[in-house]
Amino acid sequence: MSPKVGVAGLGYWGPNLARNFEELGTLAALCDVSEERRSTFAARYPEARVTGEFDDLLSDYLDAVVIATPVTTHYDLTRRALEAGKHVLVEKPPAMRAAEMDELVALAADRDRVLMPGHLLLYHPGVQKLKELIDAGELGEVLCVYGNRQNLGIVRTNENALWSLGVHDLSVILYLLDEEPEEALAHGRDFLTEGVEDVVFCYLRFPSGKIAHMHLSWLDPHKMRRITVVGREKMVVFDDMDLERKVTVYEKAPWKRAETYGEWQTRSGDIFVPRIPTDEPLKLECRHFLSLVAGEGDRAKVARDGAMVVRALERLTDSLRG
Ligand SMILES: NC(=O)c1ccc[n+]([C@@H]2O[C@H](COP(=O)([O-])OP(=O)(O)OC[C@H]3O[C@@H](n4cnc5c(N)ncnc54)[C@H](O)[C@@H]3O)[C@@H](O)[C@H]2O)c1
Repeated sequence: MSPKVGVAGLGYWGPNLARNFEELGTLAALCDVSEERRSTFAARYPEARVTGEFDDLLSDYLDAVVIATPVTTHYDLTRRALEAGKHVLVEKPPAMRAAEMDELVALAADRDRVLMPGHLLLYHPGVQKLKELIDAGELGEVLCVYGNRQNLGIVRTNENALWSLGVHDLSVILYLLDEEPEEALAHGRDFLTEGVEDVVFCYLRFPSGKIAHMHLSWLDPHKMRRITVVGREKMVVFDDMDLERKVTVYEKAPWKRAETYGEWQTRSGDIFVPRIPTDEPLKLECRHFLSLVAGEGDRAKVARDGAMVVRALERLTDSLRG
């Protein structure tokens, strides 16, 4: 029998989750503290139970809870859901401090429940292609990765560029490299709203010697959603702004010719544009959650990977403020 899922938070993002779980035949309940949001979605999903009390989602009626409320509420709601024995898909990040995230990971392990952060980009077929190329050794040894997430706006006043934009790139960089950074530094400035950094530059160094960088900004002339991976043999770019060329593989690399006494030369070969499926990343994310609930895959790793992102975020935040 399909699991029954309840979605909490029906603001901007929650309705996308509700739509996907409905399409996957598992949406059973909806919750929002706003009466207006509740009545809009009660009309759209007449089969679902609708409530203004999060605790109503913790009854035996549901198997899983999806949390798409503001970030400051994630830790508390997730803890309550896990304590009630529910599997949880929670929007990123599940907690604002590493110690709180560790507590959630331990609770999920203790109750044998899924704790999955909603790192949407990991389900993007373009990011999956990057991972496939790296893991197959196509790029040779990976040397560095960098993310560009820039635009003019949307200017946030309650969350800085690291928290609002950086979580996406950070989750992808850690996923691609599958290593915990040993150094995490961030610099930035709050030009528009005091205490809320609009422009942030981050540097990460990993035990293997790989390095990574993130440029996060809503004060920029370019709209960029790009991740570049530089390998010793090939280089690859994932560009989410490009409709047709999501992923481009460059056969570009440095090499040494014996007769030039070890001087570095560069080689520019073919450029490939692999076909990337157009599946909706959020549908793939919801499907992955349901498969973990069904006992497939490594649910402990999903929770641990989420904790690695929160730890790196915390260190970058401390560095930014330091
Ligand atoms: N993965 C993505 O690409 C993506 C995109 C946008 C937002 N998000 C995430 O989704 C989450 C929600 O963001 P949003 O932009 O939809 O916010 P929002 O403010 O538009 O919506 C939040 C909703 O939660 C409701 N709410 C607040 N506290 C509640 C509680 N205790 N119980 C039930 N409902 C409650 C509010 O009434 C509101 O309707 C955030 O964590 C955000 O980071 C993710």
